[in-house]
Amino acid sequence: MTRVLGIETSCDETAAAVVEQTADGAPAILSNVVLSQIEEHAAFGGVVPEIAARAHVEALDGVIEAALGEAHLGLHDIDAVAATAGPGLIGGLIVGLTTAKAIAAALGKPLIPVNHLEGHALTARLTDRLSFPYLLLLVSGGHTQIVHVAGVGRYERWASTIDDALGEAFDKTAKLLGLPYPGGPNVEKAARDGDPERFAFPRPLKGEARPDFSFSGLKTAVRRAGTQLAPLSRQDVADICASFQRAVAETLVDRVAHGLARFRETHPDLAAPALVVAGGVAANAAIRAALETLCAGEGFRLVAPPLALCGDNAAMIAWAGVERLRAGLVEEDALAFAPRPRW
Ligand code: KG4
Ligand code: ZN
Repeated sequence: MTRVLGIETSCDETAAAVVEQTADGAPAILSNVVLSQIEEHAAFGGVVPEIAARAHVEALDGVIEAALGEAHLGLHDIDAVAATAGPGLIGGLIVGLTTAKAIAAALGKPLIPVNHLEGHALTARLTDRLSFPYLLLLVSGGHTQIVHVAGVGRYERWASTIDDALGEAFDKTAKLLGLPYPGGPNVEKAARDGDPERFAFPRPLKGEARPDFSFSGLKTAVRRAGTQLAPLSRQDVADICASFQRAVAETLVDRVAHGLARFRETHPDLAAPALVVAGGVAANAAIRAALETLCAGEGFRLVAPPLALCGDNAAMIAWAGVERLRAGLVEEDALAFAPRPRW
């Protein structure tokens, strides 16, 4: 049995969780507490780093206590402490990693510095007990990547964005249209009443041989449409959102198809290859549906973690800690590990 306390403070969520894995390998989330700072940042239309760092300081102890309480455990029942060490906002990373170091040092238990992206990458093994290798589409506020996941700590990036991240494109689109922060869920909501065919927004890089993503042209097209129609009616906003989402889904499908083909070539004998979609944007139903259709056509299984584990959370960090412990990937001098805003 391995039981890990996870801490996540890399952006605007203060989160702590306890995850365990029994001897037969079965994982369980014993608690998963996420305190969102959305209200603190909403007035500014985005995350303000100074506000985020202070909010993490104020909230983290209580969030950790809540996570232990929900799991009916004390600190001494924990085998290791895992914390996001990067990439992310430096203030939050310092708060989370320093707290984790203090707890680990006091308990005499291992500290596991976790790369936030590894947390997203391994979540599907927590929720679906997926085995390696698999292909990962990571779509969040800061990252848009296709990653070949061969094992714990064995990741190869096959594609990434050459400009904006996909979540960023959603957030900027929302801002342009006057929709509240955070943008992604509000664009999705507005799109429900919209006409996805009204605007012929570009499908950046569609049909091109290079594997990358690009979203800045799409954002520019949205801005142009918004400026031309101003002042925007409720229906205009809905139509722009729906058309934007359609363009995003088609672009993603075209780009991800490259990744699926390469994965097939790499693993010709794998009977049931899987595509995992992770990161905050994976919560989007239209995007999930488009990927589902693509995967069905290509003989892949689409694995999408439940909504609560798509966005940032500490269960994924605790789980990455469990995986690292089990794989023997725990550094001796982890207490000296410095946070890495870029990693
Ligand atoms: O993974 P995440 O919680 O944080 C990062 O590591 O970035 O992702 C947050 C991003 C934000 O850009 C947010 O607007 C986007 O995920 N997002 C969505 C949806 N829910 C969250 N984008 C599109 N549709 C959604 N339903
Ligand atoms: Zn994330």
